[in-house]
Amino acid sequence: MSSGKRFPGKVVIVTASTDGIGLAIAKRLAEDGAHVMISSRTQKNVDAAVDQLRSEGLSVSGIVCHVAKEEHRRKLIEETSESVWDKIFEVNVKATFLLVKEIAPYIEKRGGGSIVLVSSIGGFVFGGLLGAYGTSKTAMFGLTKALVPQCAGMNIRINCIAPGLIRTRFSEALWKDPDVLADTLKSVPMNRIGEPSECAGVVSFLCSEDASYVTGETIVIAGGQSSRL
Ligand SMILES: NC(=O)c1ccc[n+]([C@@H]2O[C@H](COP(=O)([O-])OP(=O)(O)OC[C@H]3O[C@@H](n4cnc5c(N)ncnc54)[C@H](OP(=O)(O)O)[C@@H]3O)[C@@H](O)[C@H]2O)c1
Repeated sequence: MSSGKRFPGKVVIVTASTDGIGLAIAKRLAEDGAHVMISSRTQKNVDAAVDQLRSEGLSVSGIVCHVAKEEHRRKLIEETSESVWDKIFEVNVKATFLLVKEIAPYIEKRGGGSIVLVSSIGGFVFGGLLGAYGTSKTAMFGLTKALVPQCAGMNIRINCIAPGLIRTRFSEALWKDPDVLADTLKSVPMNRIGEPSECAGVVSFLCSEDASYVTGETIVIAGGQSSRL
């Protein structure tokens, strides 16, 4: 008999999931019946997230995972612009590709599945200081498309989300001060900030059978903000 949940018996890995959008995605997919593996760079944060979700009766485990394998990464001694560029691309683009490469054979062995990359509206809309970040997020749209054929051959769908301004620690500088928030919202037709749970619902949909013929797509979650390159 069906449990009425989207992901009974499924295992989900959510990277960068001890706070913000990742934590909301982990919580939502666990509520939808999956066993969720939580991870981030810090044991303390992993423990806190696992405790929080377990206290809500959800099935989760946790492990420390720096997505860019810090031990292989050149240590940044000086924050030169080139080193910042390299770091952003290493985490957002290269590590994303390597994670897909590493995990895809395991998903294939289980009969197939779904991968969702977290990009950003910043990949469509370029602000002055966010050139490297925005360009790396644009690259993630291309990466999503580029991985479709190989993933399809492994019965894996791969899609992407592009959140706009979402209320998390990462984006605090854009919403904590009411004047800055009012200025930011000038480009958001819905005239409000988004919540992490509003990203999690879209990820749940993309991972589910309701999206069984959807691959290579980017869904923008940005309150109507312009999203054309
Ligand atoms: N918030 C927004 O408005 C917004 C908009 C568009 C796109 N995004 C994208 O959404 C993603 C998540 O952002 P967020 O707003 O949810 O940030 P957040 O609230 O600051 O959470 C970031 C999470 O990622 C973990 N983390 C950071 N670097 C990591 C690494 N190298 N390896 C593994 N885990 C790492 C952090 O835990 P530890 O510190 O313990 O590692 C934390 O759990 C980012 O890719 C961001 O570009 C956010």
